[in-house]
Amino acid sequence: MKLLVTGGAGFIGSNFILYWLKKHPNDKIVNLDKLTYAGNLENLKSVEKNPNYEFIHGDICNPQLVNQITSNIDVIVHFAAESHVDRSILDAAPFIKTNIEGTYVLLEAALKNKVSRFHHVSTDEVFGALPLNSKVKFTEKTAYNPRSPYAASKAASDHLVRAYQITYNLPSTISNCSNNFGPFHFPEKFIPLAITNLIEGKKVPVYGDGLYVRDWLYVEDHCRAIDLILQKGNIGETYFIGGLTDDINNIEVIKKILRLLNKEESNIEYVKDRPGHDRRYSIDWNKINKELGWKPEHDFDEYLKMTIDWFIKNQDWWKRIKTGKYLDYYKKQYA
Ligand code: NAD
Ligand code: DAU
Repeated sequence: MKLLVTGGAGFIGSNFILYWLKKHPNDKIVNLDKLTYAGNLENLKSVEKNPNYEFIHGDICNPQLVNQITSNIDVIVHFAAESHVDRSILDAAPFIKTNIEGTYVLLEAALKNKVSRFHHVSTDEVFGALPLNSKVKFTEKTAYNPRSPYAASKAASDHLVRAYQITYNLPSTISNCSNNFGPFHFPEKFIPLAITNLIEGKKVPVYGDGLYVRDWLYVEDHCRAIDLILQKGNIGETYFIGGLTDDINNIEVIKKILRLLNKEESNIEYVKDRPGHDRRYSIDWNKINKELGWKPEHDFDEYLKMTIDWFIKNQDWWKRIKTGKYLDYYKKQYA
């Protein structure tokens, strides 16, 4: 089988390529990535000489290129996106371009070249915010209610994928997952920002009152879920993927990280809140569990420790990022 992975140099895409080549060594992967600030080929060093892996530097918004690449592809797994909510608040334009137009370009190429599957990787953020102190979870039946430019652009991309499936019979599936964490997580996101700041002797910026709840999913569990959807998922279906955190808020997450790194709580710094900050996400992943037999392999504490160990062992990787262009964004965001 030959897969086109878009955004394969990013956090989840690179974990997916490493996972896939290990699990399915006879398959071929083409990785199409524009290498924005978030794309990092270092993540893929261990496979760059693998004859079954090919990297193409390019933009998913380029129809000629995408059409040409897709001509001999069986399956598209679409990760490429602008993915950081705070950046979408500073400037929505690249989100509209890549997340909406880029998805449209890929769908057109998938249709024209008759791929056997288009899998679209999406997010729980498209469903908006759940109230605190309630047991309500997002399910595959929850109505869309995106509240940030990032979430709105991802919602639009989900609608396009569904429309192509219904109108043109494009064989597609969608997954909406919660907050991923693990190796190669770009240090602008909360968990890697916290770990790396603390290792550097800096404080952790916590937005608002810190009582925001996210559902944390280990990236390898996510990759395994996509694998199952590709093997056994039904065309036209959406699957939710989440973790084993039972309503843990950002302060509780930080306290766990502080304990694991032997740091004091005085390292928490409350900063200005994110505009439109969604209060709570919680994913009901019963459908993928019942239909495809997926569940997370370990609990949050175990994965958090593995993640911290990875960031301790791979300081060169994130220090190169944190001393590069990312510094300009950091100064602007936390001014
Ligand atoms: P990321 O920001 O780490 O990586 C995105 C990758 O896409 C980068 O390699 C970047 O260079 C590439 N890219 C961006 N624009 C491109 C373009 N126009 N053409 C080609 N490549 C382009 O993102 P991530 O965290 O790995 O997220 C991957 C996908 O998963 C996204 O679609 C995101 O919406 C979704 N998702 C992420 C999370 C999460 O917690 N990180 C959770 C749910 C869903
Ligand atoms: O829910 C899935 C989404 O998870 C994905 O679709 C997005 O691509 C991904 O970036 C992530 O979005 P979040 O906005 O939830 O993740 P982030 O790591 O930016 O923030 C997690 C929580 O931590 C959120 O409540 C905001 C808070 N936060 C974040 C940062 C960067 C802080 O308190 N301080 C910070 O400095």
